[in-house]
Amino acid sequence: ASAQKIKSPIMGWASWNNYRVNISENIIKKQTDALVSSGLAAFGYKYVNIDDGYFNNRYADGRFRLDSIKFPNGMKVVADYIHSKGLKAGFYSEAGANTCGSIWDAQKGGVGGGLFGHDQQDVDLFLKSWGFDYLKVDFCGGLEQKLDEKERYTAIGNAIKRTGRTDINYNVCRWQFPGTWVTSLANSWRISGDINPSWKSILSIIDKNTFLAQYASQGHYNDMDMLEVGRGLSYEEDQSHFSMWCILSSPLILGNDLTKLSEQTKNILTNAEVIAVNQDTTGLQAKLVSDNHAGLQVWAKHLDGKLSNKRAVVLFNASEKAEKMSISWKQLHLKGKISVRDLWKHEDLIVQGDTSFTATVPAHGVVMLKVIGTTNVLQSIFEAEYAY
Ligand code: DGJ
Repeated sequence: ASAQKIKSPIMGWASWNNYRVNISENIIKKQTDALVSSGLAAFGYKYVNIDDGYFNNRYADGRFRLDSIKFPNGMKVVADYIHSKGLKAGFYSEAGANTCGSIWDAQKGGVGGGLFGHDQQDVDLFLKSWGFDYLKVDFCGGLEQKLDEKERYTAIGNAIKRTGRTDINYNVCRWQFPGTWVTSLANSWRISGDINPSWKSILSIIDKNTFLAQYASQGHYNDMDMLEVGRGLSYEEDQSHFSMWCILSSPLILGNDLTKLSEQTKNILTNAEVIAVNQDTTGLQAKLVSDNHAGLQVWAKHLDGKLSNKRAVVLFNASEKAEKMSISWKQLHLKGKISVRDLWKHEDLIVQGDTSFTATVPAHGVVMLKVIGTTNVLQSIFEAEYAY
């Protein structure tokens, strides 16, 4: 089979943010159904990712044992169900012996779940026998056992290769940028601790991703963690959160209960113009153009490659009151006739004769633009590399 290499950040839904370890066949199937019936799948949200909490240690002979109460019909049935809806199925594991959930919930009885000592056996089971298409590998047990990250993640990467499947999306789950070794090994890697639905959490993750643009490339992305859109942030905050995850080229993995999707949340998650900024296949991510160190930041991402004349821009106001913010064509390295489109209002703005764009940005809010010039001032890839 000719596998297609995935160039854009992946999009989908994962069980962790809303369900923690309390998942089941029924929950996964209902969320799968809702991903399709809500219309989200058609916008590109194709992965249904099962996170921590599905196992019950091992059999005496070392074989992997599922939690038969949560998943009474086995896991293949669940992966098949996801596939039958035209979607991709994602799975979770751990580099050490115990997953994070099993360590935290050890008092509840469940331990284990990790790959340690069983790499090939488990990876074959997940990806070949059950047919999962994505594997996120956590490192709580790894820390507990003081394992070497690079060594473990490389070994697991090799086990994935040995399955013969070339279409697997591999996610490395650490609490900080793991190191440059990860950038060709994995398709995405976490750069922060766990997200939660608070403005503080959103800001701290953006902060962590401020200077990591150089590590992203086609099919290999900084993972800002699963989205908290629709889980209690204000409308402005949800919109800012989504805009920043998009422009910073993070995987877009929803974490909300899809059976209770409000119109507002759906409007944010289905803004095709904003999604297109994320899905640009050139592997670039936004860089910080300006920062007043009081919450006002301007971010820009080159669309269609480093030497193109197209930019996505986010005017980001993390402060507590509405502020006027500007971006000049010069800062974007653009010249000639400039066109500006507001990606949240879905309208083209009139900018004739100006040298910059100014807007009032609400507190905790964004204005997101697509700016196209007749000429790109940057002359070489080298220059573009260091722009901003
Ligand atoms: C820690 C990870 O960062 C989370 O995304 C989630 O997978 C939990 N572990 C599961 O225990």
